[in-house]
Amino acid sequence: MLVDQNILTKKRSKSKSKKMYIETYGCQMNFSDSEIVASILSEENYISTKIIEEADIILVNTCSIREKAEETVRKRLNFYNSVKKRNKNIMVGVMGCMAERLKTKLLEEEKLVDIVVGPDAYRDLPKLIKKVEDGRKAINVILSKEETYGNVSPVRFLSNGVTAFVSITRGCDNMCSFCVVPFTRGRERSRNPNSIVVECKELIKNSFKEVTLLGQNVDSYLWYGGGLKKDYDKANDNEKANSINFAKLLTIVAEECPELRIRFSTSNPQDMTEEVIKTMKSYSNICNYIHLPVQSGSNKILKLMNRGYTREDYINLIDTIKKHIPDCGLSMDMISGFCNETDFDHAMTLSLMDYVKYDYGYMFKYSDRPNTYAHRKLEDNVSDEIKSTRLSEIISKQRQHSLENNKKKIGSKFEVLIEGISKKSEYDFFGRNMQNNVIIFPKQKAKIGDIVTVEVESCTSATLIGKIT
Ligand code: 5AD
Ligand code: SF4
Repeated sequence: MLVDQNILTKKRSKSKSKKMYIETYGCQMNFSDSEIVASILSEENYISTKIIEEADIILVNTCSIREKAEETVRKRLNFYNSVKKRNKNIMVGVMGCMAERLKTKLLEEEKLVDIVVGPDAYRDLPKLIKKVEDGRKAINVILSKEETYGNVSPVRFLSNGVTAFVSITRGCDNMCSFCVVPFTRGRERSRNPNSIVVECKELIKNSFKEVTLLGQNVDSYLWYGGGLKKDYDKANDNEKANSINFAKLLTIVAEECPELRIRFSTSNPQDMTEEVIKTMKSYSNICNYIHLPVQSGSNKILKLMNRGYTREDYINLIDTIKKHIPDCGLSMDMISGFCNETDFDHAMTLSLMDYVKYDYGYMFKYSDRPNTYAHRKLEDNVSDEIKSTRLSEIISKQRQHSLENNKKKIGSKFEVLIEGISKKSEYDFFGRNMQNNVIIFPKQKAKIGDIVTVEVESCTSATLIGKIT
């Protein structure tokens, strides 16, 4: 009798689900990771909620790339504190790059935090939660040589149901002198191509139409049976002969999933090959768009940044892309006011922008990050005022180029994948063409997830505006 009752209680408690509230800051990889975490916790009977007050656990996936990103998270932690005051049983966990960077310091500085979990330790979350339930604080920030979450099927709670991220590499070996990522996300490793294809096929089954293959440096993808990229030299002849680079991976995904649109991010000028560009050209389902961070147009600064290419190398690469794919959409990341940057260096950046005429840009003021080479060895000697002035010059030039490029598209027709309802009008859809331009147009009879032909009639610097033809 007693045994029966125990079984009953167990069953009942198993069937009662708990609620997780996951908030995500930072890069696409973090958004992708949050979906992995949701999957790991869904195995533990957690369901996702958008209402913070009803959560059993609040998890914040954090970014350390710039100081401002960390400040934003600190403010959110203050807010969670007020939620926790109302409901003492809510658990608060910090995940991602801040967890990895600050480790136990986070537990000391932010008393409300119960769990600190780094980007490679999400599988340990159920155990960490258990520890907190037992009345202790819990931390796991161990970086891994293997972890790629290859066999975790993400719960797409952040998705629009049309486009999805599929991560293909983790970590970064590049050691750009300004960047905290190699310290927070560890050494570079690639994911098994079979598991990538399985995930893409699963997405097709669930009516997704587009994937973005994600990594800090996708061009550096190298599968030779597992292990760190830096250990490739130790692989045997057979492993080397059967290894798969990024161009090959793109080919495999494009051929195995002809019905999917394929994008990838982020490319690194140092590692992007002509083979990748030719592969893009060969497959009509690979989008004509490359996000190719440059960071600066000055050779002196590129060297100080340890970027591994010169201005001339970068321009050659742009020329090669334009030779093979003349209508390729191009975007960049740019940093203003890096250590020792002079007016001349800044002018080189502006002139590089004039040469490339990017369609879009992500532009930032340099932010000194603890532990990086720049922090240890260089002086953050450009004043905040000059950083800001240079940044606004970069932004206004980019706006001008985006507008010029968009204006040239007026009258053209594009195949557009509809992603959702326009934020500005419920009568309009928004979607993107292969070049990654955002296009807004009246809904007519189309539905989200359709690919429609849209003729561009007007534009702003940020969007094309048109109608379905
Ligand atoms: N300061 C400013 N911007 C940075 N980025 C990376 N680290 C820093 C930093 N310390 C930018 C780079 C990178 C993008 C993801 O963030 O431009 O490509
Ligand atoms: Fe950071 Fe450079 Fe790696 Fe990008 S390539 S994540 S900027 S170290």
